[in-house]
Amino acid sequence: MSLFIQSLNHQIIDGDNHRHLLDNVNLSVAPGECVALMGDSGSGKTTLLNLIAGLEPIQQGKVAVADISLTQASDKQLSQLRKKHIGIIFQQFNLLTSLSVQDNIEFSAKLAGRYDAQHGLALAEQLGINHLLHKYPATLSGGEMQRVAIARALNSKPKLLLADEPTGNLDENNSNQVVQQLVRLAKSNNTALLMVTHSADVAASMDKVYRLDAAVSLVTG
Ligand SMILES: Nc1ncnc2c1ncn2[C@@H]1O[C@H](COP(=O)(O)OP(=O)(O)O)[C@@H](O)[C@H]1O
Ligand SMILES: [Mg+2]
Repeated sequence: MSLFIQSLNHQIIDGDNHRHLLDNVNLSVAPGECVALMGDSGSGKTTLLNLIAGLEPIQQGKVAVADISLTQASDKQLSQLRKKHIGIIFQQFNLLTSLSVQDNIEFSAKLAGRYDAQHGLALAEQLGINHLLHKYPATLSGGEMQRVAIARALNSKPKLLLADEPTGNLDENNSNQVVQQLVRLAKSNNTALLMVTHSADVAASMDKVYRLDAAVSLVTG
């Protein structure tokens, strides 16, 4: 499994109280499988992605990425795991402003030790951004930044790609189109995709849909 989560519990401190944010989450994503994560604002979607990315300590339960357990991993192992096996697309894209589009796309692949100029160019072409390679992020539209963030995340050939509402404030039609493209690219690269989305259209094109609410449930799949 690219991602395996079993009996995951996570509490947060809310004022003077401890609150169960994630209550017995069970979820798995196979290579090339595309999974939507839905749920109201505040239901813990971003927290769950942070736990999977090793950015927050796991309190209780099992999380394994590419068959490597995060629960027992040292900080060094977690950082290796992030570099080598996990791609992340943030809500606000987090492009590196001092680097050109091309350097942004190459960045994650270089970190992972998997720099391959051809792969990066092929992704740029598939996403229709090859004419932007020498531009800087500040000069791009939101939709262009979204495509660059997708190319950057996929270029390191991660086993698992995490995407947190990768739509920024983009208009829904265009953004959904790009997200559909992301799903196709993840499949053709055999990358497992876990994507937070509010769009029922996007969720419908995924292999499985999980909802994080009072209780975590598998809606379809
Ligand atoms: N480390 C933390 N300490 C206290 N509260 C937190 C912490 N992390 C998240 N929260 C709270 O947990 C809830 C869920 O947050 P989040 O995971 O961002 O939800 P979502 O992404 O589904 O909107 C929110 O109420 C947020 O304020
Ligand atoms: Mg969130």
